[in-house]
Amino acid sequence: MIFYFSATGNSRWLAKELGQATQEEIISICDAPMFHCYTLKDDERIGFVFPVHGWRPPKIMLDFIATLSFKGDTDTHYCYTAMTAGDDIGRSVDYLNGSLGRLGLHTHAAFSLKMPNTYVGLPLMNTDKPQIVQAKKQESEKLLRQYIPRIQNCENGITPIHKSHWPRINSDILGNLFVKRLLTDKPFSVDESRCVKCGICADVCPTDNIKGGLGFQPTWLHADKCITCFACYHYCPHHAIEYGSKTRHKGQYHYK
Ligand SMILES: Cc1cc2nc3c(=O)[nH]c(=O)nc-3n(C[C@H](O)[C@H](O)[C@H](O)COP(=O)(O)O)c2cc1C
Repeated sequence: MIFYFSATGNSRWLAKELGQATQEEIISICDAPMFHCYTLKDDERIGFVFPVHGWRPPKIMLDFIATLSFKGDTDTHYCYTAMTAGDDIGRSVDYLNGSLGRLGLHTHAAFSLKMPNTYVGLPLMNTDKPQIVQAKKQESEKLLRQYIPRIQNCENGITPIHKSHWPRINSDILGNLFVKRLLTDKPFSVDESRCVKCGICADVCPTDNIKGGLGFQPTWLHADKCITCFACYHYCPHHAIEYGSKTRHKGQYHYK
């Protein structure tokens, strides 16, 4: 069983590849019922796949794990995580294990893949150039072919991950600032002259934080639900969504 979150498709691709290789079900946490009790088959692996947000697992993944439960003992099951990040993951594995503790789970293996960047919410942070997008995807596909047999064989250990030079500063200090200060939908706006009211932004929002849909211009609910995943921004077919002045003249990306 693989639980995954993906805003712009990188981690969905990874979850699908792992699901196919292990013949195990993949479950999008956005479609999964909260507080559901899952039944595992004998020897079934438990995987958690997500993008790194602010050098930590995204809030939506940690909130989901807080409501997750399994029938029976979990300690005989192999548990792993596979993450995607534009660059560095910091102490994301430690944060994940911190929340898995209440389920009696601890990851036996972890790996991360460098995938095209989707964070555009701060100055100087932009999507990757097309050559970098292609190179990251090719390298990740190659590495994944090496990692998959290790997951199939339930091998222990952390396969190469990119922690960053200062994982504590990144995850504990900057990650905390990110969660406290930057998880806000307040700067989102739509350029009415470009918006064609297709409703895609509202459809792709993983937290149902956009009022809109086909025939309507989007409005953000300001209900403390936004995780600034930028799915609305990246999937807009007319580049009509901005995040204050931070996204002006920046690129868009979603996995194709
Ligand atoms: C809110 C947010 C925060 C991010 N934080 C990080 C980060 O701390 N380190 C990093 O390398 N990439 C970071 N990224 C980039 C994503 O982790 C990366 O692009 C990921 O592959 C996106 O996956 P998805 O398409 O499945 O959503 C961030 C992206 C977003 C939207």
